[in-house]
Amino acid sequence: MPHTPAHAAATAPAIEADALSVRIRRRPILHELGFTVPAGRVTGLLGPSGSGKSTLMRSIVGVQKLWRGSLTVLGRPAGSAPLRHVIGYMTQEPSVYRDLTVLDNVKYFGALHGKSAAEARAAVAAVGLADLARRRAADLSGGQFSRVSLACALVGEPQLLVLDEPTVGLDPVLRVDLWDRFRALADSGATLLVSSHVMEEAARCDSLLLLREGRLLGQLTPDALRGRGGSSDLEQAFLGIIRADLDRQAAGLPVPAREHAA
Ligand SMILES: Nc1ncnc2c1ncn2[C@@H]1O[C@H](COP(=O)(O)OP(=O)(O)OP(=O)(O)O)[C@@H](O)[C@H]1O
Ligand SMILES: [Mg+2]
Repeated sequence: MPHTPAHAAATAPAIEADALSVRIRRRPILHELGFTVPAGRVTGLLGPSGSGKSTLMRSIVGVQKLWRGSLTVLGRPAGSAPLRHVIGYMTQEPSVYRDLTVLDNVKYFGALHGKSAAEARAAVAAVGLADLARRRAADLSGGQFSRVSLACALVGEPQLLVLDEPTVGLDPVLRVDLWDRFRALADSGATLLVSSHVMEEAARCDSLLLLREGRLLGQLTPDALRGRGGSSDLEQAFLGIIRADLDRQAAGLPVPAREHAA
């Protein structure tokens, strides 16, 4: 069930994009995106492989040059120096020091945010790695390795968490635990933007941004997605919306302006 913390309605959006376009090596990748990400909520970023999810996340955290339009994050232009201390970012490819232990990796990122060893240990436990805290990152499985990366993003208790497919390779039990944690973080006022391929996870978001080929197909709640996509199953509903978009494209109709149902 989408949850509406009382304080969220009153606060300014955490992220605002207006006609945001990104080009990489002169190739258009994101096309005039306009959306807002509400503060204190969990927003899901969904789209087929190559649709631009990671590029959009990189733009938000300030490591991707924008081409046109504007992107405001926590009230400042994306990429502003002060934002570095209030954003946690988990990249799709885990960025972890392989020669350090699990705990030392998380302590290192924690120290950048003034966090103690105890807080690093808590973040390690939160991703289910307490038993492996002393193991070298290089000696972990793929799913364990990506969880170290997630703990590094969580440890700073950032105002905005941008997580690029944080639950890939995780078993269902751990996935549920992590989503409970994301919800608790949002309830305590943090804003989360989470990309995913898993539609069960989409159901746990307050709002969804749907991307296809660098265009925003819509921003809507999971229930509105079910309605618009014509299926109670989110996966089918999303496919329904993509099919409708393909039909529209085949018929030479323009891409509709952003549709808000959230
Ligand atoms: N450094 C780059 N150079 C050239 N093209 C790039 C680069 N990075 C991304 N692209 C292209 O931009 C498009 C969007 O890529 P992006 O990684 O943002 O997609 P994605 O939605 O995150 O996909 P996935 O679900 O596979 O992670 C793709 O066509 C990709 O090939
Ligand atoms: Mg990606």
